[in-house]
Amino acid sequence: MERRRLGRKGEEIPVIGLGTWGIGGYSTADHSSDGRAVEAIRYAVELGMTHIDTAEIYGAGHSEELVGQAIRVFDRDSLFIATKVWNTHLRYDDVIRSCRRSLERLGLRYVDLYMVHWPNPRIPLSETMRAMEKLVKDGLTRYIGVSNFDARLLGEAMQALKSEEIVSNQVEYSLSSRYVERELIPFCERNGVTVVAYTPLGRGRIVDEAHRGTVRGRVLAEIAGRYGRTPAQIALNWVVWREGVVTIPKAASRRHLEENAGAAGWRLSLEDYRRLSDAWS
Ligand SMILES: NC(=O)c1ccc[n+]([C@@H]2O[C@H](COP(=O)([O-])OP(=O)(O)OC[C@H]3O[C@@H](n4cnc5c(N)ncnc54)[C@H](OP(=O)(O)O)[C@@H]3O)[C@@H](O)[C@H]2O)c1
Repeated sequence: MERRRLGRKGEEIPVIGLGTWGIGGYSTADHSSDGRAVEAIRYAVELGMTHIDTAEIYGAGHSEELVGQAIRVFDRDSLFIATKVWNTHLRYDDVIRSCRRSLERLGLRYVDLYMVHWPNPRIPLSETMRAMEKLVKDGLTRYIGVSNFDARLLGEAMQALKSEEIVSNQVEYSLSSRYVERELIPFCERNGVTVVAYTPLGRGRIVDEAHRGTVRGRVLAEIAGRYGRTPAQIALNWVVWREGVVTIPKAASRRHLEENAGAAGWRLSLEDYRRLSDAWS
C-alpha cells in the first residue's frame, strides 16, 4: 500500500484506509453483523488499509468495540488507529474521559490519532486543545487532529496548541463534494496538515452514476475502462491525487475492500485528473 507523510511528522500512513461509520451501527449499537464486521476489518488490514478511522459516536461506541476485537490479532505497531471525541464532550475533563473510554472499547493503551469530531462554538478551543495536549503528554494518543474544521478554525486550533501540532483535518471530499478545494485544502497544504477525505465515494452514489450513465458518470466509466480500473478506483485515485490527501472509504464486503485497496499505487494522468475535475465540477 502506498503511504504518505502525516502532517509534518516523519511517520507515513496508508493513502487508503478504512472508515467504520455504520460498522457496528450508526447512531445506536447494532450487533446483528458483528462477525462479518470483524472479518471485514481484519481483511482491510491484511490488504494494507491499516489506517482505521472510528469515533466514540459510531454505533454508540460499538464501532470502537468491533475495531478493538478485530485488531487484537495484529502487531500494534503496524496499525494506525484513529478515533474522535464528540462535540458535546469538548470540555477539558470530558475530553480526557472520552479518550479513556474509547481506549477501553478499543482495548488499547493508546490511539495513534485523536480528533475533535466537530467544532463546538460554545466551548473554547483553547480548553479542548489543552486537554488534547495532556493526552499526548500522558501517552494516550500519539497525534492530535481535527475534523470538519474550516481554515479559520483550523488556524485557531493550531495557535491554541503549545507543544504539539495539528497533523490532520478530516473533511468531506470527493468528486461530488468539492467545497474544501477552494480554501481549506490550499491552507492545509501550506501548513503541512494532512487532509483525510471522508465520504470519498459519496456513500456509493458516485459509482452508481457511472453505472446509470449520467453525463459525468459516463466520463468516469470511460476513464475507468481506459485504465482497466473500476469507477470506484478512479474516484478514489482522484481524491488522493494531491500529495497532502489520504482517504478512508468505508467498505464491508470483500469485493469492495479489494477494489479500494487497489485504488492507490498508481496515478491518473494530469489530463484525466483535469477531465474528471471539470466533468464533476
Ligand atoms: N468526520 C466526520 O464527520 C465523518 C463523516 C462521515 C464519514 N466519516 C468517516 O469516513 C468514512 C467513509 O465515509 P462514508 O462511510 O460516509 O462513505 P463512503 O466511504 O463514501 O461510502 C461507503 C459506501 O460505499 C460503498 N462502497 C465501498 N467501497 C465501494 C466500492 N469499491 N464500490 C462501490 N461501493 C463501495 C460501501 O458499501 P459496503 O459497506 O456494502 O461495502 C458503503 O455503502 C466513514 O465510514 C467514517 O469513518 C467521517
